[in-house]
Amino acid sequence: MDFDVKDPGLAEQGRARIEWAAKEMPVLGLIRERFEKEKPLAGIRVGACLHVTTETANLVKTLVAGGAEVALCASNPLSTQDDTAAALAQEQGVRVFAIKGEDNETYYRHLNAVLDFRPHLTMDDGCDLVSTLHKERKEQIAEVLGGTEETTTGVIRLRAMAADGVLAYPVVAVNDANTKHLFDNRYGTGQSTIDGIVRATNVLLAGRTFVVSGYGMCGRGVASRARGMGARVIVCEVQPLTALEAVMDGYEVMPSRDAARVGDVFVTVTGDAHALGREHFELMKDGAIMANSGHFDVEIDKVALGELAVGGVRRVREFVDEYTMADGRRLHLLAEGRLVNLGAAEGHPAAVMDMSFANQALSAEHVVRHAKELSPQVYGVPRELDDDIARLKLDAMGVEIDALTDEQRHYLSSWEQGT
Ligand code: ADE
Repeated sequence: MDFDVKDPGLAEQGRARIEWAAKEMPVLGLIRERFEKEKPLAGIRVGACLHVTTETANLVKTLVAGGAEVALCASNPLSTQDDTAAALAQEQGVRVFAIKGEDNETYYRHLNAVLDFRPHLTMDDGCDLVSTLHKERKEQIAEVLGGTEETTTGVIRLRAMAADGVLAYPVVAVNDANTKHLFDNRYGTGQSTIDGIVRATNVLLAGRTFVVSGYGMCGRGVASRARGMGARVIVCEVQPLTALEAVMDGYEVMPSRDAARVGDVFVTVTGDAHALGREHFELMKDGAIMANSGHFDVEIDKVALGELAVGGVRRVREFVDEYTMADGRRLHLLAEGRLVNLGAAEGHPAAVMDMSFANQALSAEHVVRHAKELSPQVYGVPRELDDDIARLKLDAMGVEIDALTDEQRHYLSSWEQGT
């Protein structure tokens, strides 16, 4: 069986950690049990480009239980858990091409190894697999029934492809499901970003000035968790409505240039390039720490940071690079500006990935079942699937809720009753 992992000898450790995560993923577990009986993915080759974590391993095992064969590569050079990759490579029907810290060339070689597998279904996180397929391997596109996309950045790229008329097959935007972005992006990114910063630096957050660039779902999560740790939180935003929400959520809101002067810790979660750049680095305090939790390593301008570091760059701890400016100030960049939560920690906890990956598994089934009716565009996750996942998650958490009475249902569908 084809694979490329760091050390197959890590498989046992990986297997134990995959099982540990499985205990926190009851909704995915239920889907896996059904898939085992119904085999909705029989004969389907899935090409997946996802962060290779214990949670992803449980998704892959669910797809295999459904009858699929899977080839998996990393969706970020720094996010692979090598023990997980080793364990998965020994699962029946799974080809894994992923090594933590792989260089750019290896990253794309691995991505192409997944495409060599000639997938019928693409499962992407960030759209690198889909864009490579569309740019460089067009001859294979006719074999693809459809795909799914995990993250905001990937959905933005897919919509741009659809707008340019180049998207050649249907893709379900898993990110847009309520049971995905309201939970994974907010509580997942919130917790795992703080986890990454703390694991990398061991800094005390209480009493620190913590600057969050971007107040989408990810930014909200990071800001609320930083506040919970006792930090003074500042939000930088470009959308007036979103900035207003941040103000009314009780945060200080100001332009990045002003925040640059006072921040101790900076986190970018904008999904856009250069949220922090030269003009900010020039103003930052000695000792400032910068981390990114957006999908790509473009949010902090590493090139400008390197150019300003005339005093040198050195690795002062694992995942912490110190850049010394001409005036002696030392600025710290975590995880090379890549996703700090996956680079320096383990990504989102399994309990939240349970819902994200339940959406992935059900969306894969949906694409295969409805391939003939779907056209080349970006689809949402069907509402019923999203609602089912919410219901199952509540059940699994042992939370009961009320049901509408007949009288209440009638009231909601009538218009005659007023004051
Ligand atoms: N994205 C964020 N956290 C993740 C995780 N734990 N597994 C896979 N993808 C992720």
